[in-house]
Amino acid sequence: MNIDGKAWRTIWLEEGGRSVGVIDQTQLPHQFKTKTLGTCAEAAAAISTMVVRGAPLIGVTGAYGLMLALQEDPSDMALLSAFELLNSTRPTAINLRWALQRVRNQVATLPQHQRAAAAQAEASVIAEEDVAMCEAIGNHGLAIFQKLAAARPFERLGMPFQVLTHCNAGWLATVDWGTALAPIYKAHRAGMDIHVWVDETRPRNQGAALTAFELAKEGVPHTVIVDNAGGHLMQHGEVDAVIVGTDRTTSNGDVCNKIGTYLKALAAFDNNVPFYVALPASTIDWTIADGIAGIPIEARSEMEVTHIQGLAANAEIINVQLTPTGSRGFNPAFDVTPARLVTALITEKGVTAASEAGLQELYNKTKLN
Ligand code: MRU
Repeated sequence: MNIDGKAWRTIWLEEGGRSVGVIDQTQLPHQFKTKTLGTCAEAAAAISTMVVRGAPLIGVTGAYGLMLALQEDPSDMALLSAFELLNSTRPTAINLRWALQRVRNQVATLPQHQRAAAAQAEASVIAEEDVAMCEAIGNHGLAIFQKLAAARPFERLGMPFQVLTHCNAGWLATVDWGTALAPIYKAHRAGMDIHVWVDETRPRNQGAALTAFELAKEGVPHTVIVDNAGGHLMQHGEVDAVIVGTDRTTSNGDVCNKIGTYLKALAAFDNNVPFYVALPASTIDWTIADGIAGIPIEARSEMEVTHIQGLAANAEIINVQLTPTGSRGFNPAFDVTPARLVTALITEKGVTAASEAGLQELYNKTKLN
């Protein structure tokens, strides 16, 4: 997607594959900086410190991290320990384990001297597939938006189509396009009059910092709101649809996404606002049916609750304390929205019900395989 007229992806190979370039998302929206990851340890640190984040991008970074590890040491032991290191960086997004397993399966039976090149090839295939899946999600989501926009009551027909989104499920969370934001970009590029309500998404403010940055750079009309404003807007008919991403989707269609997503789904349900979840196949965990019982929820540092990062008057990025010294914070990073609150899942293969039957129809899979 575009930054000041230049097309970017979130991750790329440098030095013919000896290192990996990424956008440093901890500095956005105030500073645009890139970072070079030269070792597996640096890739793991980039994921855990959220230099890169978003389920699909975490997966691709993990895959390239294994490539870097195998360049350093292609032995079985090194493969195992790099897999464990990368897999332990963030526990909720299933894309990480999925991508690591894909690379490991590709290289494990090869002679050691072929492993790094094979890992690079597989990681690059994963990255390209991600771009294609996200663009397909964009097209399927656009068709939904167009249908919903046309079905609005007569008095709203000339008004912008209003979409609310939570966290950042845009191109910064993937390799390109994004999941939940892909239909928004497609709609905007197709000339649809669209406006996005951007939940700020405390505590790390991925909405205020990253989604707003992306939308601004693409010229998509948007307004940042505090997380608590969504229900009020829905009650007043100011939201035509909610669309979010997911870090893990169970075989029954429960979706685990950034903390606060569940509350938006409840408000949408109560106000008859359609609630869509956009996801590539890599986000489905076929081994878990019940998301609330089965999905591990990452607990992050309480400092993310008690402190906040922003731009000081002297243009320095600083961190300031919000709470009284000594007050504790608790910081679950994700929550689970039960399938019954999800209007439909928008995948690269099409749109389906958030249910076991819906997912099986699309992917022809059975539970626990
Ligand atoms: O903690 P983050 O910033 O990695 O969380 C990201 C999200 O919750 C996204 O909504 C999710 O990964 C889906 S993105 C395509």
